[in-house]
Amino acid sequence: MVQRIPQQVIDEVREKTNIVEVIGQYVQLKKSGKNYLGLCPFHEEKTPSFSVAEDKQIFHCFGCGKGGNVYTFLQELEGISFPEAVKKIADMEQIPLGIEISSEPVNQTSTGQQQLIALHERTRDLYHHLLMNTKVGEAALAYLHERGLSDELISEFKIGFAPSQRDFLVQVAQKDKVTADLMERSGLFIRREDGRFSDRFYQRVMFPLNDFRGKPIGFSGRLLKTSDFPGDDQPKYLNSPETELFNKRQVLFNFDKARNEIRKQGEAILFEGFMDVLAAWQADIKIGLASMGTSLTEQQIAAIERVTGQVVIAYDGDDPGQAATDRALSVLAAHSRLSLATVTVPEKLDPDEYLRKYGVTELQNLLQHGRQTPFAFKMYYRKKGLNLENEADRLNYLEVVMQDLAKVQSPVEQDLYLGQLANEFQLTRESLKQQLQMIRQTLRSERRQQQRPVSQAPLQSVKKALTKEEKAEQMLLYRSMNEASIREQLVQTDFQFIHDQYQELLLYLDSYMMVHGNFVLADFLNYLKENEMKQLAIDISMISMSEDSNEREIYDLMRVISQSGIAEEIKQRQKEQLEARKNGNQQRELELTVQIIELTKRLKQA
Ligand code: UTP
Ligand code: MN
Repeated sequence: MVQRIPQQVIDEVREKTNIVEVIGQYVQLKKSGKNYLGLCPFHEEKTPSFSVAEDKQIFHCFGCGKGGNVYTFLQELEGISFPEAVKKIADMEQIPLGIEISSEPVNQTSTGQQQLIALHERTRDLYHHLLMNTKVGEAALAYLHERGLSDELISEFKIGFAPSQRDFLVQVAQKDKVTADLMERSGLFIRREDGRFSDRFYQRVMFPLNDFRGKPIGFSGRLLKTSDFPGDDQPKYLNSPETELFNKRQVLFNFDKARNEIRKQGEAILFEGFMDVLAAWQADIKIGLASMGTSLTEQQIAAIERVTGQVVIAYDGDDPGQAATDRALSVLAAHSRLSLATVTVPEKLDPDEYLRKYGVTELQNLLQHGRQTPFAFKMYYRKKGLNLENEADRLNYLEVVMQDLAKVQSPVEQDLYLGQLANEFQLTRESLKQQLQMIRQTLRSERRQQQRPVSQAPLQSVKKALTKEEKAEQMLLYRSMNEASIREQLVQTDFQFIHDQYQELLLYLDSYMMVHGNFVLADFLNYLKENEMKQLAIDISMISMSEDSNEREIYDLMRVISQSGIAEEIKQRQKEQLEARKNGNQQRELELTVQIIELTKRLKQA
């Protein structure tokens, strides 16, 4: 059952919304001229070509060509329907709609995914209920409380418990008439040799894993050891297997909840385990993220970079954690422009243990004031396993660290550490500086050799060059959007665009104006139902033209089109004329000849 939202409400919601603010929640935007620029969320890119025009209330990507208004943005990004997008914006702006919007699958392919998500939602709520309200969940709840997690946090993250019984979820699914196919695809079950299902997760505290919209797509279950259930042969954490929903390489724990706060505070904190993210949350640090026990992927980095420019790495203080920090620094430096800092948790603790040992304030202090630059981290980390009393080790260390230092961008920072190293190893600043210069030179020539011809700019590869006629058509439509008199002139005379799509767009524009009275591009896009038309309208609105038209300009533009239209027509008649002559149809040939003469005359006058 789908309720139609009145046009008036759609317009009202959109009017009260600023597209920059909405998109800013998903994409890090920087002001550039009168527009905002950022990395496009719809395709992978390293340099920003995604533009948001505040005055027009639309977005447009010069790289992949996607564009539209605030509704289109949410529809595309979150894969939701138009009414859902309106509802979502209305919620953000706290405008009551007064009607129920049912979510309906957007298209066939997503139907399967919707069902999988629904199954995950149901499972999550069930596990959560068991944990919070039943005897079965008591031990697990006590365990979480003992770990310092409040009921509020447990509810916020919808943490749950999967009981030890191996067919608990199987029975629920069968009662719900979930098909075997869906059960198989969900990853929540294991198929035994006799073909029957059993639960993948049992006797585990269940942490839902969400996609970036906050929809559950998998779980991580932590083994709950009890006297009845030692589970010694089982892994501490068990994650959902890869499914069509769940891809470990894409999941960033807490990204859905933290995104807004990260954008506001201008930074994110990366933890090694998601228990650390939860510990930080308890300490009111709500910008924590974690990957799922794997090293950071380019997709995850890209997602982070869309919402912030700065990342603090606060992995575990033990040796594996520090090694992971070193790796993360390299990966982040290679694949992003994020500015980076590290925090080393003392006593080889992880942030969660540190919180429990020293309390909320100390964890806050550590994360705020215990930060190091990446180079300071490297300086310390490279000493591991070396004996600096030993001459060979000293030289070795210096060599490696100087390589790191050469990559530091800021001259001030470089100078600072140069001084520190000179001090520590009782060398002159000058000699170190010389060495640094040599390394930089080698790096530079290496880089030059690696450089391949720059790939074609996306702008050129996507936008095909327009003919002179088509340019004129677009310019005329641009004027028609912005100046009613020009639109009227085009509609009321027998002017014809050469290409049908432009003629069609003009007609849409005209009927839109009859209803709305004044032109608002973002509303016009709602009015246009077909994506192609929307795209065309956006492309046209992005043309840069002088502020106002003048008569001469319009005359010239119309002439380009009408001349070309006639020329086309003449060619067509000439072909027919030839045909008629071949067939010996004199009557038809004569008719056509008269028409050609007539057209040629008009071409000269135009
Ligand atoms: P840790 O073992 O550091 O987790 O693993 P933790 O947060 O300290 O867990 P607690 O405090 O003992 O409960 C870090 C991350 O590695 C992944 C998980 O994503 C975890 O958050 N991991 C760990 C697994 O996937 N499987 C495992 O068996 C262990
Ligand atoms: Mn831990």
